[in-house]
Amino acid sequence: MAISEQLARTIIDPKAYSEREIVDAAFAEIRASQPLDKAELDEIEPFWVVSRHADIKEIERQPDVFRNGDKSTFMTNREGNEKVRMLTGGEPNLIRSLVSVDGDEHKALRGVVFPHVTPRAIRPLEEQIRGIAREFVDYMLSFEGECDFAADVAFLYPLRVIMTVLGVPREDEAFMLKLTQELFNNADPELNRARAELTPEEALKSLWETTMELEAYFKAVTERYRANPTTEINSLIANARIGDDYLNHRQLMGYYIIAATAGHDTTSNTTAGAMWALAERPELLRQMQDSPDRINAFVEESIRWEVPVKHFMRSAASDCEVSGQQIKAGDWLMLSYQSGNRDESVWTDPFDFRIDREANPQIAFGYGVHVCLGQHLARMEMRILWEELFKRLKSVEMNGKGERTISNFVCGPKHVPIRFTVN
Ligand code: HEM
Repeated sequence: MAISEQLARTIIDPKAYSEREIVDAAFAEIRASQPLDKAELDEIEPFWVVSRHADIKEIERQPDVFRNGDKSTFMTNREGNEKVRMLTGGEPNLIRSLVSVDGDEHKALRGVVFPHVTPRAIRPLEEQIRGIAREFVDYMLSFEGECDFAADVAFLYPLRVIMTVLGVPREDEAFMLKLTQELFNNADPELNRARAELTPEEALKSLWETTMELEAYFKAVTERYRANPTTEINSLIANARIGDDYLNHRQLMGYYIIAATAGHDTTSNTTAGAMWALAERPELLRQMQDSPDRINAFVEESIRWEVPVKHFMRSAASDCEVSGQQIKAGDWLMLSYQSGNRDESVWTDPFDFRIDREANPQIAFGYGVHVCLGQHLARMEMRILWEELFKRLKSVEMNGKGERTISNFVCGPKHVPIRFTVN
């Protein structure tokens, strides 16, 4: 029997993710009773809900069987899927990025940036990033005891870091932030392009317009960096070749767009979520100040806690069995990182924020050949920010109600009002 309609609707409902407890409760029920089962809703192609940590890994371990590029890589309804194929000339994803390609193409594209984002390659950036972190800590302190940590700090610091690494000038940061928010928060009237509730048709139109605006921006970037190559990542992308040829238009645009959007929104959400957790737990700040060696545990737990990428989809290229379920060629699957990171069989107290876990095999960066390309940079920039902040922060508490974005894809807190004192 399929997962109940009510549960299936809850786990794809953007509004439910803005009240995270609702989604967490739904997934807890699914993990307990039907951890890998089908959801069947009229307006959406049936999809398997993969809710357990082990099953997500099992599927991501087999990229030739569970492919990214054959169907949409994020949850869309039948009508949306059809329109995307019309707009793209037959492709299932509006943007052809690393997450929507497979096999040799994926390997070749990933190889363009991968050597430049390994832990060793990014080590020389540490001092520059620390400088940026100090600027943002000073900026936060300039609010004299009260700020919206999400909007005033967490959205801006990872933005500055990634734009510096990519080579995007400071004056373009606000533009990048706006378009990223439009892309990932299309269901949220506060952040989407039209600043309104949208019908599915309007939502797709606005995504397309945002994509076109980003493409126009990056077209000029390609011209600039081909004329004058540098070591910045956008220049590596502009000048990369597969065989003798430059990346084609869709590959180029997809690469720029994923790096410039996923490269900060995810980290911003995690940072905002960690501050929210701190502000609700006075003992946590004390623990961090007494045990600065727990900083990596804090960062890892904040990534597990926030899970800024809620899901990605896969489609089966052949028949196979996972956890006793028969998956058929062509079936569509939702890998729920939100659920996998709350799996009771992996963590004791998955709904608590704890820095004393012996192991924390969080799966919020995904797994396997598509595992997050920016994971080491994300960890490093968050560690540095917290190191700098913990030196200065004496106390922090919520100063009103926090608010999450309305989205079922890449999302997190949009308002974290705090009151704080400093040393
Ligand atoms: C806390 C921060 C972040 C989280 C939680 C996160 C999460 C993810 C997830 C879940 C995936 C898909 C993995 C899979 O399919 O198995 C992914 C892929 C990706 N991420 Fe991140 N990400 C973060 C930060 C970043 C940053 C800072 C960058 C930019 C440098 C970045 C760039 C990418 C790219 C390019 C991919 C596609 C990789 C591929 O398909 O081969 N991410 N990320």
